[in-house]
Amino acid sequence: MNKIPVIVDCDPGHDDMMALVLACHSPRLDVKLVTTVSGNKSLELVTRNALNVLHYIGADHIPVAAGCDRPIVRRKDHAEAAIAELRRHSDSIENGAHGASGLDGFTFPEENPKKVIEIRAVEAMAQVLRESEEKITLIPTGPLTNVALLIRCYPNLISRIEKISLMGGTCQFVFTRPFMEFNTFIDPEATKIVFESGIPITMYGYDATYSVLYDQTVIDRIASHKNQTSYMVSELLKAFMYRHNNTFKWLGLTDTCPIHDACAVAGVIDPTLVTESKMLHVDIETAGNYFDGATVCDYEDILGLPHNVEVVYRMDNARFFDLMEECSARGK
Ligand code: BDR
Ligand code: CA
Repeated sequence: MNKIPVIVDCDPGHDDMMALVLACHSPRLDVKLVTTVSGNKSLELVTRNALNVLHYIGADHIPVAAGCDRPIVRRKDHAEAAIAELRRHSDSIENGAHGASGLDGFTFPEENPKKVIEIRAVEAMAQVLRESEEKITLIPTGPLTNVALLIRCYPNLISRIEKISLMGGTCQFVFTRPFMEFNTFIDPEATKIVFESGIPITMYGYDATYSVLYDQTVIDRIASHKNQTSYMVSELLKAFMYRHNNTFKWLGLTDTCPIHDACAVAGVIDPTLVTESKMLHVDIETAGNYFDGATVCDYEDILGLPHNVEVVYRMDNARFFDLMEECSARGK
């Protein structure tokens, strides 16, 4: 079977880390490029994290290009402001789910020979699309800023995109604000551009990602493999469970935790992992007082508008965790 060529656009982040491990170590995927975008942390930090993860897991051959350091329209500190606001309104821990570094809970070696390539993310993505014989699947796991600019700057290359499998949005799962999910909230205008692009989209929003909750058993299984990738993954999963559950206390999770971004990769590796999904019309709110970036899903099909997004609701937990373990074990 031919490998599926993909580009992962990310803002690591613990769950982005898991997404990268799945993408780089699944025999089904051929990762042509990793790009970074500011979101969970500044562009500088998330790019450093991406380089550290790829080097540590033995994926030095995959080029990394740095992308946008702010949303298309919103303030540069939009994400930091959102995290600070959350802390003001609840007793969540400092620095949010990913900590000060964006990957709290694991210390990477200080020296990393892996560097970003000279050209920026949008240009690098365009180059991959132009040069690839096969169409490319995009897997964005951060705000959609880079992908939206790619669509706007290179409309002639849209037809070279097979599909977009993204982590973002929510349909019926209420998180901080109704309809709010971090990635779509951080860059609503970019989200709108992507969702209106006509490119086939599969959306792994909170409905899907909170249906896949790992626990200590999964961490122990991964840790039982003695390679350094499995060690790193298990330490970061442990740290993320603590940070996530103490940041979003009202969700009431204690011994289980989602691993959002990994869902968007897992579904490309093995579409049969999706056990429930529906084609829906999804609009993006960009002018609201309360619901900026909301993915407004017409889940009862009341408006009768064209279905632009496959919204995933549920995934096969057991096989998902098998995949996390297998890909971690295949790493360096
Ligand atoms: C998304 O926000 C980030 O914190 C995670 O990395 C994930 O991409 C979940 O809402
Ligand atoms: Ca992310």
